[in-house]
Amino acid sequence: MPRGFFVTFEGLDGSGKTTQLKRLALWMQRRGLMPVMTRQPGGTSTGDRIRELLLDSRGRSLAPMAEMAMMFADRAQAIAEVIEPALAAGKTVLCDRFTDSTEAYQGGGRGLGSEAVLTMHRVICGGLQPDLTLLLLPSLESSLERARRRNERVAAQSGKDEGRFEGEQDAFFRRVWAKYREIAQRDAGRVVCIAGDLTIDEVHEQVVEAVAMRITEASRV
Ligand code: TYD
Repeated sequence: MPRGFFVTFEGLDGSGKTTQLKRLALWMQRRGLMPVMTRQPGGTSTGDRIRELLLDSRGRSLAPMAEMAMMFADRAQAIAEVIEPALAAGKTVLCDRFTDSTEAYQGGGRGLGSEAVLTMHRVICGGLQPDLTLLLLPSLESSLERARRRNERVAAQSGKDEGRFEGEQDAFFRRVWAKYREIAQRDAGRVVCIAGDLTIDEVHEQVVEAVAMRITEASRV
């Protein structure tokens, strides 16, 4: 059984990556491919509980190192419970955020630096790397604008409190954005950066192009 294909989606809050992940899944399903979809933090029952702790805006005093460790605890569980079994069964996994998020948000945004994140990744994830990462990175200005609009939407929503990251200031998102760009330049073979202010359809076309090319190359279609 050939190993499955691991695709991750990355980007700032409000970048539209969740929409794109769903559209890609639909595109694949129409072609008879049944991807496994998951997200981080979350995606397992333990992960959903960790997600609540991480995103609840009452957790303001959470130490950055604790935050990073919890992101990895969630990831370790997701790898063991969802991602590895699916890849071993030859399935395509579409994951909304993975270690690049930790490097961008905790490494960049919180200032912990890349080295701490990459060291934890090696130890905890056993070096598991996505075969392809789709990074949605509109210009800095429109990324900040989208994050702000997202803040307002989240603030207006009732129900689940998942607003802890949405409450961050521009300076935080600037550092996240810069770290994402750095990752894209460093790991250019793995990361396809879809930059610029494009429509949902235009981004989808680029996503499909990147995925189709890689999956065909790996003879998995
Ligand atoms: P989520 O609801 O998934 O946000 P989005 O729809 O914008 O992806 O919330 C995840 C939040 O957690 C998001 O603000 C980014 C943050 N995050 C980290 O800071 N580090 C991580 O490793 C991960 C996976 C997410």
